Amino acid sequence: MSKVRVGFVGAGGIANVHLQHVSKNEMAEVTAICDIHEETALQKVKQYGGAAYTNGDEMLEKETLDALFISVPPFAHGEIEEKAARKGIHLMVEKPLGLDYQTVAKKAEVIKQSGIINGVGYCLRYWETVAKAKEYLKDKKPTMVRGHYLSSFVPTPWYREWKKSGGQLVEQSTHIVDLARYLGGEIEQVYADMSLQVHRNVPNIDIPDVTSLNFVYDSGAVGHIDSTFAQFDHRMGIELFGEDFRVVIDGGNLTILEKGADTMNFKTELDVYGDQDRLFIDAVIKGDQDLILSSYEDGLKTLAVTLAANQSHETGLPVKVSDLGKLVMKN
Ligand SMILES: NC(=O)c1ccc[n+]([C@@H]2O[C@H](COP(=O)([O-])OP(=O)(O)OC[C@H]3O[C@@H](n4cnc5c(N)ncnc54)[C@H](O)[C@@H]3O)[C@@H](O)[C@H]2O)c1
Repeated sequence: MSKVRVGFVGAGGIANVHLQHVSKNEMAEVTAICDIHEETALQKVKQYGGAAYTNGDEMLEKETLDALFISVPPFAHGEIEEKAARKGIHLMVEKPLGLDYQTVAKKAEVIKQSGIINGVGYCLRYWETVAKAKEYLKDKKPTMVRGHYLSSFVPTPWYREWKKSGGQLVEQSTHIVDLARYLGGEIEQVYADMSLQVHRNVPNIDIPDVTSLNFVYDSGAVGHIDSTFAQFDHRMGIELFGEDFRVVIDGGNLTILEKGADTMNFKTELDVYGDQDRLFIDAVIKGDQDLILSSYEDGLKTLAVTLAANQSHETGLPVKVSDLGKLVMKN
């Protein structure tokens, strides 16, 4: 294949990171950039090249694209994934995949049937430390997992609205939920408490700023994730315990402790976005889905856990993730 012709839908914060990496990749070219905000599209085209659009459908109609990066807010996905997949355009979609389980599950089916290469922006999977942790854990059984995503307020206007972002767990802390699944196994049941404590005076806010999530793996292991944007700095990490071992990921650091053995320490130097985007382009060129660490179908499973947690918050009851067919989003 000659250069991979890449289109972009959504050209805001994270798209800028993808645009930087794709524009530097000699196996790819920025062919078109779409943003509903015309000035944003024009400015990015000036910076990275390609043709500017304000309508994704029009871009798909007029351009010949091999791959598409979708970096729109959670509420704004529309039908772009299905439309691109039906045209055979390979997809890299930012997390979270959407806000409605059934809608995203239908997209996953169309993507699967189309046979395109597909990835989701669960970039932490590409950390070298996460790869080392996964390798270490491959023959081990975690019995308890505890994670945290503790950060500050995100001023982006759509973030604070439940109907647009799905709240912090769906939108941000989903990265830690994803690691809990990637390293610990499938989550069967969740129970969540959430509350708006600190940011009550932010105009238009209706999402909780503190969340406590409990979950049970299908192995019977248990887990917990703390999530907040009521802090002044940013910390995130996860610990997985089992009989005589502990795996601790604290930001970019990994520590593996084992009873009777020397402690192992690793630090990640990797640029996760760069690696993720390069592997996606490689996967498109080689037609090799295995190069991608988070497929669309897998991203749907992480979304399901976070949506189930939201449902638990609404009902005050534990929710089985497999019962999501009955999920009704809060509105
Ligand atoms: N993987 C990560 O680490 C990471 C980091 C940041 C953001 N994200 C995710 O990326 C997504 C976007 O976040 P962001 O911070 O870039 O948001 P943003 O608000 O900065 O940018 C979103 C852009 O999409 C545009 N847009 C909205 N609807 C559109 C549509 N229908 N067609 C074309 N353009 C449209 C907006 O005008 C805006 O420019 C979110 O889902 C977020 O969770 C992921």
